[in-house]
Amino acid sequence: MTDTIKCAVLGLGRLGLHHAKSLKQRAKHAELVKIVDPIESHVHQVAEELEVPEWTTEPDEAIEDPSIDALVIVTPTSTHGDLIKKAAKQGKHVFVEKPLTQTLAEADEVIQAIEDSGIVCQVGFMRRFDPAYVDAKERIDAGEIGEPLYFKSITRDSGSPPAEFIKHSGGIFLDCSIHDYDIARYLMNSEITTVAAQGRILINDFMKEFNDVDQSITYVEFASGAAGDIEASRTSPYGHDIRTEVIGSEGTVLIGSLRQQNVTVLNNKGSNYEIVPDFQTRFNDAYFIEIQKFVDCVREQSAPRVTAWDSKINMEIALEATQSFLAEGRRRTVHIHTESSL
Ligand SMILES: NC(=O)c1ccc[n+]([C@@H]2O[C@H](COP(=O)([O-])OP(=O)(O)OC[C@H]3O[C@@H](n4cnc5c(N)ncnc54)[C@H](O)[C@@H]3O)[C@@H](O)[C@H]2O)c1
Repeated sequence: MTDTIKCAVLGLGRLGLHHAKSLKQRAKHAELVKIVDPIESHVHQVAEELEVPEWTTEPDEAIEDPSIDALVIVTPTSTHGDLIKKAAKQGKHVFVEKPLTQTLAEADEVIQAIEDSGIVCQVGFMRRFDPAYVDAKERIDAGEIGEPLYFKSITRDSGSPPAEFIKHSGGIFLDCSIHDYDIARYLMNSEITTVAAQGRILINDFMKEFNDVDQSITYVEFASGAAGDIEASRTSPYGHDIRTEVIGSEGTVLIGSLRQQNVTVLNNKGSNYEIVPDFQTRFNDAYFIEIQKFVDCVREQSAPRVTAWDSKINMEIALEATQSFLAEGRRRTVHIHTESSL
């Protein structure tokens, strides 16, 4: 077993910086040796702050560096496919943020490259590592709520990312609801077979240019006979709100709360508590655990909990949801061309 995995992080934006800090400050058996971002002043500054020995504005310098074992790709979604294929060619293990790619054709090319090279590739569906979701999964699998019948999920982001991000994101279903499609399949132990999606711009008019919306709903049906609904919003004025419910034949499981800390203040104006402000705060533990598990998988050469194949299924659902939205909510069948891991 390799003792220390030498890593490089590509992309130091909202999430890349978080992953770089996890690797540098918390992960065991990992060493952050290089960081990459095209914005020179930024990558230089982060390298100094985190005391990372090497930095560059050129992704190829990390991909082709023989001293590096693994790449953590946190770049705009439109760049994922190319970077993974290049990494696989160099035999570098890959952690890549969701979604895997933007098109199924590119996902197939990426999967082929992973198979040909034998690298470990884990995709960033961090809810599968979040302690609350993990606990819920164990309880559902143990039969505590009977047969899962209905899945309900809310993903409300405290505000929209900038236009440049939306442009490369693939839209609200591929970028945002894909987290819910993934965790729905995982918790319900069943594949999604049909989707019907609708959405509307409530605040962010600039999204018209990208055929995108800032509020949406996907109605889903599962192979098991279960059903569900998934709300996504980029307009939450009060904070980052992630809640899921799985209703079963003998009970229900509720996951998530709005509280940042388990502290409530009572005074003559009433009661209040602090609300989770952003995704980095809500999923701080999950982001660290998923990165640690990736490092462990590379050391052990074992299969990750979320594979590229799983991620392609999530894309198949998201892309059908996008087509349904464009067809004003018409119900669409999800054709899964990948072997299910459930
Ligand atoms: N799992 C999650 O909860 C979650 C949350 C946010 C974002 N994401 C995903 O992470 C990825 C990045 O999102 P973000 O919000 O951090 O974006 P961002 O726009 O904040 O940051 C992207 C960074 O990548 C840099 N960059 C662009 N092209 C690059 C290249 N070829 N090589 C290296 N760096 C490059 C940019 O300069 C920027 O600093 C996206 O795929 C997004 O879907 C996942």
